[in-house]
Amino acid sequence: MNSELDLLDLDRKYLWHPYTQMKDFEKDNLLFVDRGEGIFLFDSLGRRYYDTISSWWCILHGHNHPMIKSAIMAQLDRLEHVHFAGTTHEGAIRLAERLVDLTPDGLDRVFYSDNGSTACEVAINMSFQYWRHMGETARKGFISLERGYHGDTVGAMSLGGVKAFNSPFDTLTFDSYRIPSPYCYRCPYKAEPTVESPNRQGAGLLDCSLACLGPLDELLADKGHEIAGIILEPLLQAAGGMIVYPVKYLKRLAELVSNYGIHLILDEVATGFGRTGRMFALEHAGISPDFLCLSKGLTAGYIPMAATITTDEVYNAFYADYREGRTFFHGHTFTGNPLASAAALASLEVFEQENVLNGLQDKISVFQSGIKGFRKLPFVGDVRGIGMVAAFELVMDRKTGTMFPPEKRVGQMIYKDGLKKGLILRPLNDIVYLFLPLSVTVDQIEDILDRSFEVISGLSL
Ligand SMILES: Cc1ncc(COP(=O)(O)O)c(C=O)c1O
Repeated sequence: MNSELDLLDLDRKYLWHPYTQMKDFEKDNLLFVDRGEGIFLFDSLGRRYYDTISSWWCILHGHNHPMIKSAIMAQLDRLEHVHFAGTTHEGAIRLAERLVDLTPDGLDRVFYSDNGSTACEVAINMSFQYWRHMGETARKGFISLERGYHGDTVGAMSLGGVKAFNSPFDTLTFDSYRIPSPYCYRCPYKAEPTVESPNRQGAGLLDCSLACLGPLDELLADKGHEIAGIILEPLLQAAGGMIVYPVKYLKRLAELVSNYGIHLILDEVATGFGRTGRMFALEHAGISPDFLCLSKGLTAGYIPMAATITTDEVYNAFYADYREGRTFFHGHTFTGNPLASAAALASLEVFEQENVLNGLQDKISVFQSGIKGFRKLPFVGDVRGIGMVAAFELVMDRKTGTMFPPEKRVGQMIYKDGLKKGLILRPLNDIVYLFLPLSVTVDQIEDILDRSFEVISGLSL
């Protein structure tokens, strides 16, 4: 049998990891994960690490949860996979019924795919084709937000606003309209720091009049009837920097676009399934979109799966005799996979049996008040959070919010120091964040915060 070190050499020889400059691991080893239990991951020497980013924002109820595991195992005895065109199966049907039940009224149709990018791609394509079917052929444009992220397929990238990810593909992607990010910490409309608010943190937030929605207002007045849809992540721009923004922004944006009949596409791939403290982030604003994109937490992180949920109105625009050419010719091989459906149903069962959402509220208070103490640290420019998510934006100068030069690799230092303290941290550039599994306990939250504090305060820059 190969030792861990042999395997790591084979990894160097054969593998190419996502979102990774492989040269970083020319000498350093990747973390070799051997197993998971609850909110911990273990390496092959039995060293324990807190999975503080929920294995890329997926894990909800912890690793190796007995109910989810046994549901997948039971399903394996029955059916592992079947194509989903012309056939169906019990798990996919029951899950669709549960999802329609859980989501706001009006979201009545479930289209499955297999990852977050495809969940968004499906919504974009459906919206585009819907307007063709309705004879509104001028509606071709899409709006998205700076710092928004919807995945790495070409359509999703075209509506992505994270420059570092998209700029190599500028000429490959299609044109769309981009509006400012509601990035309160770096709000260009905000009053300058004052004596009372010497850091930029929070200054101007209380009297925010949503000036950052002005460009949307103007765009709609000019082109509102040429727009098919707008896509955004409700309340938390995750990959764009864990940017938490006010509920009133989301409500107002929904109102503005509905005046022009524009499809509202909410990407809850990261925020869905309890992460913000409600089952879906949209519930904080009491809004109902035309499309809701789900993945990651849909199966509690056990098996890849995604769903795009839409209205009967959209569905009915495609429902016609075949010869009318209204079919949605789009799909993915692992659509509605039976093992994934079983995992998703089991996860929803865990939500009920373990009373997850109710139990979450005390944990969130401890977590969100615990992060406030980080404000006093010398390099922490902003502290923000929602539900089980928190971010600490590290800056060179707190007064001006000046960022560290990228070559400083502050995020990389945090990653390495985190491992030494038993934390898996994976900062987005210099934004350190925690994206905790819902099953974390209050004691564990306190321990994670203490360890994170030590990592950040120990930085020698
Ligand atoms: C909000 C959001 N949308 C879409 C995606 C893309 O999901 P995937 O990586 O499964 O394609 C992500 C991934 O991080 C995401 O956070």
